[in-house]
Amino acid sequence: MKNLNVLIIGSGGREHALAWKIAKSPMVKKLFCAPGNPGMAEIAECVNIDPLDIDSLLEFAKNSQIGLTIVGPEDPLTLGIVDKFQDEGLLIFGPNKKAAILEGSKVFAKNLMKKHGIPTADYMEFDDYNAALNYVKAATSAIVVKADGLAKGKGVTVCQTREEAIDAVNLIMKDKVFGEAGNKVVIEEFIDGTEVSVMAITDGKTILTLETAQDHKAIYNGDKGPNTGGMGAYSPAPDVTEKLSYDIEKQVLVPMVHAMKKEGCPFNGLLYAGLMLGKPDPKIKVLEFNVRFGDPETQPLMARIKSDLVPVLLAASKNELDKACIEWDSRPSVSVVVASNGYPDKYETGKEITGIDKLKDSEDITVFHSGTKIINDKIVTNGGRVLSVTSLGDDIKDAKSRAYNALKEISFDGAYWRTDIASKAIS
Ligand code: AMP
Ligand code: GLY
Repeated sequence: MKNLNVLIIGSGGREHALAWKIAKSPMVKKLFCAPGNPGMAEIAECVNIDPLDIDSLLEFAKNSQIGLTIVGPEDPLTLGIVDKFQDEGLLIFGPNKKAAILEGSKVFAKNLMKKHGIPTADYMEFDDYNAALNYVKAATSAIVVKADGLAKGKGVTVCQTREEAIDAVNLIMKDKVFGEAGNKVVIEEFIDGTEVSVMAITDGKTILTLETAQDHKAIYNGDKGPNTGGMGAYSPAPDVTEKLSYDIEKQVLVPMVHAMKKEGCPFNGLLYAGLMLGKPDPKIKVLEFNVRFGDPETQPLMARIKSDLVPVLLAASKNELDKACIEWDSRPSVSVVVASNGYPDKYETGKEITGIDKLKDSEDITVFHSGTKIINDKIVTNGGRVLSVTSLGDDIKDAKSRAYNALKEISFDGAYWRTDIASKAIS
């Protein structure tokens, strides 16, 4: 049975969580990660290949008899890694280049939603700097300015004032801080409500919706301060009732999978819908689509999957997802991100991290690495988001308090974390 070599591409907390889950599979003979991180190195063999170096990844996969490749980040997907692997007859989980544009271009995603009646915020698209500037100068309420292309999670500015919107347009279209990703902008209405992330695995015919998760994007407690890659997450999101979950599938996931097929770019892989549930009634609106697992949402989700994930990802890659299912742990989980002081702006690296070992044998607690590296046999910080401490619990309150208790063991110079992850779910 143990005859499958698996390759995971990426080096963040999301990829560590996927590796942690996949390493337990009875089907897996050997697990490789490229490039991986020190946490992944404990459960897999890390190979030093950059996720954007697709030719070297392909060469490695062929030489190492990789039977399944799983792509963590979006950039290799938009560059066409799936097409190249499939051309060589290799199984790989993720959308091809044509389908990955759903995350690669916000203009594409918004126009597709509009065309196919998928609920989203009203918007305008601009490829002309002066036209965009004139539009925001005339704005009378809060608006959101979005760079069209990939911008490492930093291309969106929620603007409460006209000045903020003018600055955002200038940064994206005049100063070109995101390069070509800023050739176009989407400017949309601000919508208030509760955010929730819904992810589904699909082969373009069958949709397997995962349990819900809630991210915490802002750096400070109470969702204050600038947005980050995500400061913590929990699963499930209690706001999403069974009825709402059904509505999300019906209004968002199913129409999008159909829309992609109709547009000639059938979607296979992980479809991530970032949603805003409006107040007072939970009216669903899509903020964004991503084409890969969310980070940090994947950390609490992996903690809750009881069955083997490998057959599911294999089935999706082979276009036979109708044969697959996932068994979930009914217990909730909470994941708290530990960041370097200063993140999401400038921060220092190279600080020694202590205490991870003390949590190794704790039941239901896992420490996922993201920005870490080993120097002189010591684990040191190597990024803005450094670790995510994840715990299951009898209920969300228990999971939260166990995650925060575990966090007390971890220490490094300048460690910062929000203290209110999952509080919303409890109140
Ligand atoms: P996006 O990458 O498009 O999901 O945007 C990043 C973050 O910006 C989202 O997670 C929201 O917190 C916020 N955001 C995006 N669009 C809107 C909107 N139309 N109204 C309010 N907040 C938004
Ligand atoms: N947690 C947000 C994202 O993965 O895009």
